[in-house]
Order: sequence, then C-alpha cells, then structure tokens
Amino acid sequence: MAVVEKLNVGIVGAAGRGASFKSALEASGRARVHAVCDIKQDAIDEAAKRLGASEKYTDYDEMIEKSKLDAVVVGTPMPLHVPQSIAAIERGMHVMSEVPAGVSVEECRRLVRACKKSKAVYMMAENYTYMRPNVLVRALVKQGLFGEVYYGEGEYLHELKGLNEITKWRRKWQTGINGCTYPTHSIGPLLQWFEGQRAVKACCAGSGHHYRDPRGDEYENEDSVVMLCKMSRGGLLKIRVDMLSERPHAMTNYSVQGTLGGYESARGGPGDVNKVWLRTLHGDPPVWHNLDELAEQYMPEMWRKPSEEALRAGHGGGDYFEVQDWLGAIFGKQPCPVGIHEAMDMTLPGLVSQQSILQDGAWLDVPDSREW
Ligand SMILES: NC(=O)c1ccc[n+]([C@@H]2O[C@H](COP(=O)([O-])OP(=O)(O)OC[C@H]3O[C@@H](n4cnc5c(N)ncnc54)[C@H](O)[C@@H]3O)[C@@H](O)[C@H]2O)c1
Repeated sequence: MAVVEKLNVGIVGAAGRGASFKSALEASGRARVHAVCDIKQDAIDEAAKRLGASEKYTDYDEMIEKSKLDAVVVGTPMPLHVPQSIAAIERGMHVMSEVPAGVSVEECRRLVRACKKSKAVYMMAENYTYMRPNVLVRALVKQGLFGEVYYGEGEYLHELKGLNEITKWRRKWQTGINGCTYPTHSIGPLLQWFEGQRAVKACCAGSGHHYRDPRGDEYENEDSVVMLCKMSRGGLLKIRVDMLSERPHAMTNYSVQGTLGGYESARGGPGDVNKVWLRTLHGDPPVWHNLDELAEQYMPEMWRKPSEEALRAGHGGGDYFEVQDWLGAIFGKQPCPVGIHEAMDMTLPGLVSQQSILQDGAWLDVPDSREW
C-alpha cells in the first residue's frame, strides 16, 4: 500500500480556537499536529497533551524557526493573523488563518505581497461558507435557479460582552473599533453566491451606543452596524454586525434575491426553517418552500454522506470541510476556495466600512487585491 505523505502542522493559539482544528487535520490522514504554541505558560503542557503534539512552544518565532513544519494554523487573536501568517509564508509554510485575514488595509497589502512571492497555500478559515444550507444555496445559484443574483443580506448577531472580558483582545478589536469589525461570516457565503463578483464600494452607519463595559466605558463600536456594499456587476449587499445588543444569538442570518427567486434563512424563531422560492421549480404564486426539500436533488457531494468527524465538527461542519479543502489545495487536488484574494474580498469591505463610519457613512472604494 502506498505510504500517505503527512504534513507536520504547527498550531498557534493552541490553548484557544487553534485546538478545534486537530480532529479535522487528523481525520484527513494527511496531516498531524506536530507542534503547538501558545503564550499561556500554564496551558501549553495541557494543550500539547490534548492535541498529541510532540513539540510545544510559548514563542511563535521559535516554533517556526526550530520545528520542522510544513504548515501552520493561525488561531490567535485578530491582530496577530497577518504577522504570524507572513512569518510562516516567508518560510514556505502553508497557512490556514482564522478570520478576518487582517485588521488594516496596509497589513493586508503586505500579506498579499508575501503570498504572491511564495508557493505556500494560504487559506482563510471562513467556515460559515461550508455550512450545509449555505452549500446548498450555492449549488442552486450555480445551477442558475435564482436567475441573476442581485441582492443579498448577511447578519452576525452575537452578544459577547461577557466573552469580551475573558478573551480581552475582543474588547479592542471587535467592540473597540467602530464599523464592521467581524464581517467575514456574513459576507463570505454571500460572495460565493455572487460568484465572480466582489464588493467595489462600501458604506457604513451605526445605531448609536446603548451599552457600557464593566468599567463604565462606552463601547467604541456602535451596537448594530450596517454596511452596504455595491457589487462589481451592480448588485447590493447589506451586512449587519452586532456584538453588543441583548438578544438571542443569530450568527447565520442570510437572504439572497435573484431574478428567478429568493432565499431567506431561518432567523431562529420557534419552528422557523430555511425558506426558498424558485420560479422554475415552484411556479406561481410565489410561496415559501423548505430549503431542505431540494437537498436530495441538488446537494453537492460533500454534504451527501458526511463523515462522523464532519457531523461532530463545530460551526455546522464548517470546521471540518475547510481543513479538507486546505489540505486538498496543498496536495494539488483542487484550487484553494478561500485563497488570498477571496480572503481579501471577504475582509477588505469591513476595513473600508471602518473608514466610512468615521466619514458619516461616505461611500468609499474597496481595493482589489488582485491589483496589488
Ligand atoms: N471561525 C470561527 O468560527 C471562529 C470562532 C472563534 C474564534 N475565531 C477566531 O479565532 C481567533 C481566536 O479566537 P479565540 O476565541 O480562540 O480567542 P482566545 O483568546 O480564546 O484564544 C486565542 C489564543 O491565542 C493565544 N495567544 C495570544 N497571543 C499569542 C501569541 N503571540 N503567540 C501564541 N499564542 C498567542 C492566547 O493565549 C489564547 O490561548 C480570533 O481571531 C477569532 O476571530 C473564529
């Protein structure tokens, strides 16, 4: 039997989110967790044991310098994604980075340049694009069943004031800056449904400030921020991100409209389901149908007989499938679905929205990373 080549993977942020990548990496049979890194001295031993790593580090530079790694998973707080990704890419190591790709347009530009110079595969871990309903809607769009898609909505409503105080970086990078600081879970699936398009202009406004942190300080981010994006072929996206308002979580609210039909995801209410109406399949008059009724005929292969690991994986299976696609791209099976430019398409509008909200909601250009 042929010996399967295994990649040695290092996970940074191993005592936090980074740990969630282990089972998907190992389920592939093509990768092993070789080294782990976290600055938490008191947690690194336990993390190494739990993740079965042979090496452990509390300094990232030391890990990528000393350890014989083929690839790195970056699961650290947002401002570390770019510097840690670049450091690995410059050493020829493949990178899977948590979302968003970066926290400023300038550092994103540096990341794109590093990727362009390297053969390493960079992927942003946009796991919501792999959720079962999102994958099915994408397949329906691809079949042309929505006609021309021209409007989409995505919402990430996740009250995290308590979590802010535990993972303190969130207080600064998610709720301490005004604008869409965490948009990729909302815009990611929509961009795949608007295939071949990107946001070319963005503007942003907020709902004001109604909450204070435990120190009595107002959050710099407004409670609900709404970003509008004009798409390259003229369509419109509306993205709402709210990490402060007191309400049940709803991180996977989506809708899409095309010339031949529409989709509205379940918004979490009792009995609510994902709903679709497609003129060519359902006919007139327009009445909602359960999206699931179309699964048997249109669901792509990946979600037909998902493995136990996929079903157990977090974020509706997204944490499993994204890793398989990253490894597939590394081994030349298929192109990387959320490579550097798709990562930029999902990240840059949010960074531009942070400029727009400072300029009273002005429409601003979103840079095209393909030109960098
Ligand atoms: N895709 C998703 O669904 C999803 C879900 C949760 C978090 N995230 C992303 O994952 C990242 C981490 O989030 P989290 O909730 O796990 O945060 P966390 O604070 O719980 O974990 C981050 C870990 O990184 C470690 N760390 C910090 N600085 C470091 C450094 N310089 N070197 C090595 N380790 C360092 C911390 O000690 C901590 O253990 C964030 O970017 C977040 O946006 C994504």
